[in-house]
Amino acid sequence: MSEALEAARRAAAMRVAEYLDAARVVGLGTGSTVEVFLKTVYDKLTDKTLVASSIDTALAAKSLGLSPVDPVTVERLDIYIDSADEVDPLGRMIKGGGGAMTMEKVLASASDLRVFIVDELKVFPRVPHGRPIPVEVVPQAVSIVKRRLEDAGFGCRLRVPQGKRLPVITDLGGAVIDVEPPEHMELERVAGFLERLPGVIGHGIFIGYADVLVIGRSDGRVEVVTYRRPREERASPGS
Ligand code: 5RP
Repeated sequence: MSEALEAARRAAAMRVAEYLDAARVVGLGTGSTVEVFLKTVYDKLTDKTLVASSIDTALAAKSLGLSPVDPVTVERLDIYIDSADEVDPLGRMIKGGGGAMTMEKVLASASDLRVFIVDELKVFPRVPHGRPIPVEVVPQAVSIVKRRLEDAGFGCRLRVPQGKRLPVITDLGGAVIDVEPPEHMELERVAGFLERLPGVIGHGIFIGYADVLVIGRSDGRVEVVTYRRPREERASPGS
């Protein structure tokens, strides 16, 4: 990662610190941006209940002296912080580069406020933009799911470690198929199709999950796009 990009992520993470003051239970996504966030706002996290979306993030937090709780002990979160691989101006995202999208979506869905930090290189006029969409699949079902996807016009690639046949296995015990949907299939339809396919555990299309998008730019500016306000504010009279 370039120095300017790293600085952009740090600046964006600093801005997100403002949202933490009122939060008690904080969910954490997975990936290098979340690690930058952890390091940058460490002081604001020491008195929070942290919930990690992956073993990777739990270990990153632990290495800093933080102690995330097991997600199974949590029923709802005040705020969820994460990044994405690609995002469009409507806040629609492609995630799952790190294969943690299923728990990321679960934590985001249970959170009052969802904030996503991206650098400017991840913003595109529409998504997906050249990257495949990760689909988490029951390992025993990979051949059947892959065939059904291919029959429906999807390009498919099973995610495997370099030089191996055995698939990469996620924290949840799933395999990952990276898919390219048929060219003119709307993203919502792709998501619906994947959700109806037996054997699919989850996928990396996130529509309606970004309440706030914080974009770090390499010239040092930070842009905040608000799609939805926190749940309590939305529920109050006149909102
Ligand atoms: C992991 C994700 C990540 O948010 C996404 O891959 C971005 O990662 P990074 O911050 O390393 O660029 O969806 O499942």
